Amino acid sequence: MLLERLVAHDFRNLRHLELTPAARFTVLEGDNGQGKTAILEAIYVMACLKSFRAHRTADLVRHGEADARIHGLIVHDGVHRSLDVELGARRRRVSLDGKAARSLTEALGQLTVVLFAPEDLAITKGGPAHRRTFLDRAVFNRFPSSLDDMKRFEIALKQRNALLRDGGPDRLLDAFDEQLAPAATRVVGWRTRYLSDLKPFFESAISEVTRGSHHAELRYEGSTPAGEDLIDWLRRRRVDDRRRSTTTTGPHVDDIGVFIDGHLARVVASQGQHRALVLALKIAEIRLLQDAFGYSPLLLLDDVSSELDASRNAELMRYLGGPAFDGQVFLTTTDRRHVLIDAPFSCLTIRAGEVVA
Ligand SMILES: Nc1ncnc2c1ncn2[C@@H]1O[C@H](COP(=O)(O)OP(=O)(O)OP(=O)(O)O)[C@@H](O)[C@H]1O
Ligand SMILES: [Mg+2]
Repeated sequence: MLLERLVAHDFRNLRHLELTPAARFTVLEGDNGQGKTAILEAIYVMACLKSFRAHRTADLVRHGEADARIHGLIVHDGVHRSLDVELGARRRRVSLDGKAARSLTEALGQLTVVLFAPEDLAITKGGPAHRRTFLDRAVFNRFPSSLDDMKRFEIALKQRNALLRDGGPDRLLDAFDEQLAPAATRVVGWRTRYLSDLKPFFESAISEVTRGSHHAELRYEGSTPAGEDLIDWLRRRRVDDRRRSTTTTGPHVDDIGVFIDGHLARVVASQGQHRALVLALKIAEIRLLQDAFGYSPLLLLDDVSSELDASRNAELMRYLGGPAFDGQVFLTTTDRRHVLIDAPFSCLTIRAGEVVA
């Protein structure tokens, strides 16, 4: 899978950007605030139809403009496809080879990307929301068809919470619970399936990254007690839910326990161990995709060399430049001398949203 060309119009500060990436490594170098992350974000939006750092589509459109447009040429298994995404204040439009995509899933299947950004250290260090976001993105990458279940769950949850806020009657809540429970169970099903697939990849990655000195484990920590049917549990939580005007159990409050040598990483891990854990998670995520799809995903590395210490950085670069990874990689940096890939790379200088060299 290869992104052969990227064109962005009025996306963030990219007024008109055109670039032809290398088949393997493209380094985007530039001072702060020039548009390096915006370029990764444009690629990410083509793959996921949403951003990793904005909640509102409107934030992605260049200030003062009505629409942003992103165009990509993708080659996969010898087949060329063009993908166009148009973003307005409230809408997204996707075309494949010039024709409106028949479904979101069709459009979403065209590009698989894995992002690694400094914020990812929060996966093991931060609150549960970071782990849920990581997991849901990874699940979506591996199983794009899970998106329908995720959406159904989000809608059902929103409706139930609105009813709780309005103090709606029990009989209506019963009906809402019946919508919510199966959707929630499917979401948990996707997540636990993914985690069990990830397990061997993660365990071997952590062992490699720490040269065998640590063992780590991931465990899904559901908010519904084991063996309890979610619908019964929702009913039992109802008094509490009414008091708090929100649904207090379900996938939206579940967590993943990340353990290092048997202890909860969030509590015991050192800074270096957090970096090792997150790096191992990302490597595991990539390997799982390679194993499942038979090809490497595109990798977007946002300024990671500044976040990883020298030895983890070297570890990552060795892995990416080595025989086990043959995918396309985009890296941002303020200084190309920080990029220590042991392979040829193309370096583009980004200034004020344009490729200047
Ligand atoms: N909707 C928008 N319209 C216009 N400019 C925007 C918009 N959103 C963000 N910007 C600006 O785009 C610029 C590029 O941001 P970006 O995050 O891509 O920079 P960067 O090169 O990654 O910088 P850093 O090295 O600090 O991470 C910033 O100056 C930001 O203020
Ligand atoms: Mg940036």
